[in-house]
Amino acid sequence: MIGKHLLSTYDLSRDQALSILDTTAELAAVSERSVKKLPTLRGRTVVNLFFEDSTRTRLSFELAAKRLSADVITFSAKGSSVSKGESLKDTALTLEAMGADAVIIRHGASGAPYRLANAGWIGGSVINAGDGTHEHPTQALLDAFTLRRHLRGGVGDLSGARVVIVGDVLHSRVARSNVRLLHTLGAHVTLVAPPTLLPVGVESWPCTVSYHIDEALPSADAIMMLRVQAERMAGSYFPSALEYSRLYGLDARRMRALPPDAVVLHPGPMNRGMEISAEVADSPRAVIVEQVTNGVNVRMAVLYLLLGGANSETPDRADKEGV
Ligand code: NCD
Repeated sequence: MIGKHLLSTYDLSRDQALSILDTTAELAAVSERSVKKLPTLRGRTVVNLFFEDSTRTRLSFELAAKRLSADVITFSAKGSSVSKGESLKDTALTLEAMGADAVIIRHGASGAPYRLANAGWIGGSVINAGDGTHEHPTQALLDAFTLRRHLRGGVGDLSGARVVIVGDVLHSRVARSNVRLLHTLGAHVTLVAPPTLLPVGVESWPCTVSYHIDEALPSADAIMMLRVQAERMAGSYFPSALEYSRLYGLDARRMRALPPDAVVLHPGPMNRGMEISAEVADSPRAVIVEQVTNGVNVRMAVLYLLLGGANSETPDRADKEGV
């Protein structure tokens, strides 16, 4: 059981995280079939509530809910009454009145999903799809799932695995969620960034911090490149894009310094030529497109465990019964 909401990777025990990842593996088999659908969430209503831009996360949550036969509504703040000044509370009350069983929320304010889950406005489950610079738990889960498939011959054990995360850690909810989840799963994380792009207090996070990418490469099992989040930057955090990519970008020369079986991850959207060169992004060792596929399956698992859980068919039983 993983509880009612998924707000943060901090809330997940090792067993809960492993249960989501194992369920993902079972559901991945469904996504590989020609009819990619289970009846598990028939009659349930899932709302995608997106106050910030998104491509992968929004589409994959939508697809995941549809593959489990839920009714899905996608709400983008742009083009809704939010642009007329409607509050989060009134938006939530509207969704509650429509009978939402789960609300997947992405919001620019860190903590918005907690407010939604705890204010008593809605009765359903809340899933954090990215809140400000705080957390993005399903991204960390899909990254962990991808790493489990590629590291250590794919046996699924990340204990002792060395994962290097490079770039704009300061603004990255992906980095925060990954550091916590990978630590819970026993991996060792090294964050690499210029001092200006590291948050205050990073020394208390369960990871190692370095300013030098080249020192971290030779012992990495995997490297995750983060986007430089210009939209969250009010000032100037580095002298120029050229200098940033020279000091912190992953290009073909740096990739040769990685162990031969190390994989390259990026949560997307990528700034090609900035934190990652096109050659690396398109190389066979980049698992960036596979991360997107795994994202659908992880989100199916989360919806299944939060909404279906013990009251519903297991993926196996549902599979046998068909749609
Ligand atoms: C990330 C996000 O929105 O936090 N993207 C994603 O969800 N795939 C990272 C980013 O925007 O750079």
